[in-house]
Amino acid sequence: KTIPQMLFTCVIQVMGVGVFGYILSNVAGLLARRDAAREHHMDNLDKIETFMQMHQTPPDLRASIRGYYHYMWNSKRGYQDRALLEGLPGKIQSELFLHINRSIIDRVPFFKGADLDMLSELMSELQLRVYVPGEKVFRAGDSGDALYFIHSGVVDVLTKTGDSIANLTNGAFFGEMALVSDSPRTATVQARTYCDLYFLPRESFKRVTKAYPSFLEHIEDTMSKRRAS
Ligand code: CMP
Repeated sequence: KTIPQMLFTCVIQVMGVGVFGYILSNVAGLLARRDAAREHHMDNLDKIETFMQMHQTPPDLRASIRGYYHYMWNSKRGYQDRALLEGLPGKIQSELFLHINRSIIDRVPFFKGADLDMLSELMSELQLRVYVPGEKVFRAGDSGDALYFIHSGVVDVLTKTGDSIANLTNGAFFGEMALVSDSPRTATVQARTYCDLYFLPRESFKRVTKAYPSFLEHIEDTMSKRRAS
């Protein structure tokens, strides 16, 4: 009823609005950050949709692009930011890579029960690449840049003229011949389905096989069986 009482009420109301606004913005922030991966994915989708509109991309190409993003999200492969991990100490990094790549370790028979030091070194060098159906991983005659492990999907091994030699799936590796014998690729490899492939660059392959001869022996063993078939 008095002027001081009114002033007091005004101050309390202003403070109340401030506190309410502060809490509300924090809750909204928390909700937005709860799923950073989804946000990243949705952001990418928005950008790519705008890009496709601006460039009047044909409908079937749009469908392939959306299919790819859909696959990446569903297979939880949409958020692969290695740069985020580069600041971590080496020991934590190698434990983390062992953890992240545990599903490829489970799938490749040779990795099960393999030397832990060798696995740690291999896992920190492996890099994931996704191939869409029909995409060529490499062509016969190309130079050997890497060894590939199939995490999921099916690839066809083809002659230069396109005849099928073999098909390989989860847990298999390919691309060893060019690396072991320092020669061009003996065949073309093409993805039949969406494929998650882990590739081990040539220099890493040379380093790991030098340090762990059992790895090279296993690779050579498979290579001779393939050559004999
Ligand atoms: P590279 O020659 O580097 O590239 C083609 C790859 O196809 C080859 O290594 C092998 O990994 C793979 N390859 C070749 N022949 C066969 C086969 N008979 N069975 C399975 N894979 C093969």
